[in-house]
Amino acid sequence: MGIAVALLVLVIGSVLFHWVSPWWTTPLASNWKQMDHTLTITLVITGIFFVGINLFVVYTLLRFRHRGNGQRAAYEPENKKLERWLISVTTVGIVALLAPGLVVYADYLRPPSDSIVLEVLGQQWQWRFRFPGAGGKLGASDPRFVSAANPFGLDPKDPASADNILVMGNEVHLPLNKPVKVLARSHDVLHDFFVPPFRARMNIVPGMVSSFWFTPTVAGRYESMCAQLCGVGHPNMRGFVVVEDEAAFAAWLKAQPTFAATMSAASAGPTDPLAIKGRALAQSKGCVACHTMDGNPGAGPTWKGLYGKTETFVDGSSAHVDDDFLRKEIRDPKARTVKGFAPIMPVIELSDDELAALSAYIKSGAAAS
Ligand code: CUA
Repeated sequence: MGIAVALLVLVIGSVLFHWVSPWWTTPLASNWKQMDHTLTITLVITGIFFVGINLFVVYTLLRFRHRGNGQRAAYEPENKKLERWLISVTTVGIVALLAPGLVVYADYLRPPSDSIVLEVLGQQWQWRFRFPGAGGKLGASDPRFVSAANPFGLDPKDPASADNILVMGNEVHLPLNKPVKVLARSHDVLHDFFVPPFRARMNIVPGMVSSFWFTPTVAGRYESMCAQLCGVGHPNMRGFVVVEDEAAFAAWLKAQPTFAATMSAASAGPTDPLAIKGRALAQSKGCVACHTMDGNPGAGPTWKGLYGKTETFVDGSSAHVDDDFLRKEIRDPKARTVKGFAPIMPVIELSDDELAALSAYIKSGAAAS
């Protein structure tokens, strides 16, 4: 009897919670109304089964409970009629659950021919974006080309790469009402590019390019996120997609550098041999995964303009960034955390000479700013 009451309360509570729940989806800002429809279909079908099965258990608990008058249950393991019913209802239920999703997914992978192309590059723990330039083609890329100067790993010999437009930060702009074909790749582990109001997301698997498309239909600034747990900096993989009219988008795009421009700027880099050694160390030790030299904060503060400024810590204290500051931060990164960043920096083993070289490289970022 107690169990029957508990199940009844569970069913009523679940249905009520669905209606009064504060957790609704964000307003739709893309063409993918069908995604919402398939979710609704799934919810309705699983909801009907959930309510039906639990109410049936409540009924049997009450109807067939032990009465102590010698009543016995009828044992009927081979009820063909009941089995036919159960198999047909389950089959219809499963087909109704899966089929709409397959139809929508097939659409999701077939971009319209007038789509613009956006490359999304995931890396522990930041986003970068690339558009084809005037030539309309994305240049070839390969992990072996990845360096601090070439974080996208583009093939410098591929003529299609030169005019590609690189977005170094985690904010990308898109024109309103234009279909966008997304090509996504990862430099390291599994990530997932997800913009909830677009109802669009896709896993990004290292070693392959995954693809989907959407049309942003409402102007605004939308938060994007990484939807696969990709390591300690995973929560830092947030970004923004700004949807704006064609003219504003064109103006923004024009302000982004081409691959050719970033390569010539990088070759201008440090001239001091110690700083050059430091730059190589920053790449080989993986510092560049979190610290940029272009002014965009990654998982850690950018090194551009860092040396010589005053940095504030989470506890409110502050310190002047000099060689002593850098040595303390690198030797014992957990001791103090710079405000606005997570305490995720690992201890990297460096000799005193290497530490001096790395500091010299960071120092060269002050001059470059
Ligand atoms: Cu990338 Cu989580």
